[in-house]
Amino acid sequence: MAMNQTKSAAVPNDLEPFWIPFTPNRDFKKTPRMIARAKDMHYYTPEGRAVLDACAGLWCTNAGHNREPIVAAIQAQAAELDYAPAFQFSHPKAFELAARVAALAPGDLDHVFFCNSGSEAVDTALKIALAYHNVRGQGARTRLIGRERGYHGVGFGGISVGGIVNNRKFFGSLLAGVDHLPSTYNREQQAFSKGEPDWGAHLADDLERIVTLHDASTVAAVIVEPMAGSTGVLPSPKGYLPRLRAICDKHGILLIFDEVITGFGRLGHAFAAERYGVIPDMICFAKGITSGSVPMGGVIARKGIYDAFMQGPEHVVELFHGYTYSAHPLACAAGLATLDLYRDENLFERAKKLEPIWADAAMTLKGLPNVLDIRCVGLTAGIDLASKPGAVGKRGYDSMARAFHENGIMIRSVGDTLAVTPPLIVSETQIGEIFDKLATIIRAAA
Ligand SMILES: Cc1ncc(COP(=O)(O)O)c(C=O)c1O
Repeated sequence: MAMNQTKSAAVPNDLEPFWIPFTPNRDFKKTPRMIARAKDMHYYTPEGRAVLDACAGLWCTNAGHNREPIVAAIQAQAAELDYAPAFQFSHPKAFELAARVAALAPGDLDHVFFCNSGSEAVDTALKIALAYHNVRGQGARTRLIGRERGYHGVGFGGISVGGIVNNRKFFGSLLAGVDHLPSTYNREQQAFSKGEPDWGAHLADDLERIVTLHDASTVAAVIVEPMAGSTGVLPSPKGYLPRLRAICDKHGILLIFDEVITGFGRLGHAFAAERYGVIPDMICFAKGITSGSVPMGGVIARKGIYDAFMQGPEHVVELFHGYTYSAHPLACAAGLATLDLYRDENLFERAKKLEPIWADAAMTLKGLPNVLDIRCVGLTAGIDLASKPGAVGKRGYDSMARAFHENGIMIRSVGDTLAVTPPLIVSETQIGEIFDKLATIIRAAA
């Protein structure tokens, strides 16, 4: 028996070696929040205690957990084809899934580049943007514009255009030539809005200021989330995204929507681009494509972008980019089964129908102790709680932990904001349960 096997058998419950991402490790290892299995709307702890999943895992299990057709598709694929080289060769399901994703996207967003996560999707889109200008003879367009409070994953591209201070400040000088739009959130103007706030479209005009400062000839792309999720659920103000689109068009700048969270039904449509009637030049997706079951991400590009690369000798690679596991067979099988399930159960439509019920239920928390704001759009809500003096984030973190251990519900905390984003199969009764439990949790945190 190999050394490490002996060791793992001898210490099966050693929590020390695993360095848990985006988690306070020492606290977790004292009181672990361990999950052993899942089905539909519930997680189960190793002891068998049910926990209602009000987060769709990490905003990804949109079809609910361990759904039979997805499980069966992954099992069948594992038995049929484990892996095909992602470069110079491919396999039929990669093409089938690309066609299905393209068919869901609006307008001429019709070419799909696969990767394995949201972070890779963002880096891929940024690189395509730079290379696109390059192949068209506009190589001076190198600047990338993100937004304050934006989250675009954890690659160097993503943290450079992202606007979350802690995700940036430890990691050196990041990408050069990046600028940021202002955040669209303003509590004084927007508190307790249901859906898109009325105030804030004018904040898109800041792009004009940035373009004037650097000159349009140096700007490659703007990237925004149609709804900023990881920073605590910040819906776009009414009219903001069309305005951003118009300014990008005026200056020949590419517009990228990071739909890693908003894609696949979260806002009641296949993509938020459809909800807002705005066609970006690229869409980043991940998470919901496989309902979280197998890692996968990707970028959907407009026809004109793909076509710009299709030139020169035909034996030469057109885009020097890709991942060993791009369009992995297991992910493609899971993706196809997931898209079937979304279609067969009308889950995007279902999210749209539930949105007003969800929003009304969320607003019942208004007036509870320490509740400063509630925001919601699609099947998503963020509840800002007042910070404890000298301990920013503690009320939120303790509430999340208590919710899991004592109230049988999984919520997320982002600082002192509680975020809830259930699978799209959530029932009206479960929506009631989520917000009843949240009321108990918020009272207990007073
Ligand atoms: C908008 C957005 N972009 C990118 C990412 C990064 O995705 P991943 O964690 O799969 O790399 C996330 C993750 O939450 C996200 O919300």
